[in-house]
Amino acid sequence: MRILVIGGGGREHAIGWKLAQHGHSVFAAPGNPGLAQIGKTLPTTNYLQAATSAKVDLTVVGPEAPLVAGVVDQFRANGLPIVGPTAEQARLEGSKIYSKQFMVEAGIPTARSLQVNSLPAALAALDDFPLPVVIKADGLAAGKGVVIAATTEQARAAVASLGPNLVIEEFLTGEEVSFIALCDGKTALPLEATQDHKAIHDNDRGPNTGGMGAYCDGRILDAEAASRILDTVIRPVVERTGFTGFLYAGLMMTPDGPKTLEFNVRLGDPETQALLHRMRSDFALPLAAAAAGSLDGSSLDWRPEPSVCVVMAAAGYPGKVRSGDAITGIGAAGAEVFHAGTRIGDAGLETASGRVLGVTARGATLQAAIDNSYRAVSRISFEGQQYRKDIGRKGLRRW
Ligand code: AMP
Ligand code: GLY
Repeated sequence: MRILVIGGGGREHAIGWKLAQHGHSVFAAPGNPGLAQIGKTLPTTNYLQAATSAKVDLTVVGPEAPLVAGVVDQFRANGLPIVGPTAEQARLEGSKIYSKQFMVEAGIPTARSLQVNSLPAALAALDDFPLPVVIKADGLAAGKGVVIAATTEQARAAVASLGPNLVIEEFLTGEEVSFIALCDGKTALPLEATQDHKAIHDNDRGPNTGGMGAYCDGRILDAEAASRILDTVIRPVVERTGFTGFLYAGLMMTPDGPKTLEFNVRLGDPETQALLHRMRSDFALPLAAAAAGSLDGSSLDWRPEPSVCVVMAAAGYPGKVRSGDAITGIGAAGAEVFHAGTRIGDAGLETASGRVLGVTARGATLQAAIDNSYRAVSRISFEGQQYRKDIGRKGLRRW
């Protein structure tokens, strides 16, 4: 098939890589230097025109912004097959307030919360929650619109900087799990569970990022937990909204069962890099079935070996990022290196945004997958590089 991937980050490189491995022709708009090595990149954000001129059979959307802007509605209005949610469905990610109201109305397990739209209401709401308290900005924030405040001063400062439209909610403890299902409006096909690492520093310290690394291991959820999540979190969304595309539930596995921290309406980044490394099936088949509304009966086959993706980020991330640093060592790294924020500049391949590379490997055991990824990371370098040293360690501790 000829398939257009919309986006230009590590997730999109991984999607293109997986499709190319099964012999599909990959187009990417706008793509990145990694995608340019496996397919044709189209330097445009006019996705409809890109799909038409490349005569693609199918389009798959990576990031949230084009989804929230209605790219799926636009493609369908023009009769082009596409995998993703409508703009209306994408509000589940685009607005934390809407999403929270939806969860409450649908009876989807989630943290107790208050939704506010003014500074005084937010300050008053803080009194209703013990510390630490979680404060979430309403709109899209690339994973950076959530503050976990340990003190009243921090909570007040967060309210002032993120407000006035906020969700304020109870702090939950447990293992965090990313649970993603491909949906066609009626049927939900779950992918394997993954675990992301959101904070910038080891041991989950420091501010949140878009994700500093992920691993995928068949032991993250047992069959019973996965089916409970499918029934109580995913299916209610599909039934109520006729959801199409990837529905991503960010979950906390609490002593009272799984609770939903957030919905995303797309594949996770860097979860996808780890996930697709373990997928054995031709990814294009369920994608095409989802676009056609015929997902019922589809299945996915996974390799037993765990996979790990370590993100290498640029100096300054998740704050103000420095770019233009030369990157060396990718060719001899010995793992799959997905480009997230790179460009070709005066220095050759150089850093272009916060998350630069996703270094991904499998191993016979989780420890081996971790070792294989970090060995490759040690062979790559750029000025100011930062990466976590503990990706996957939570899994090692648990098993
Ligand atoms: P979100 O974008 O809502 O998933 O929040 C980003 C990150 O903040 C999550 O991945 C969690 O690590 C953390 N977080 C969000 N909500 C809560 C909560 N209620 N309790 C504890 N941690 C949370
Ligand atoms: N890695 C978290 C996300 O994609 O939202």
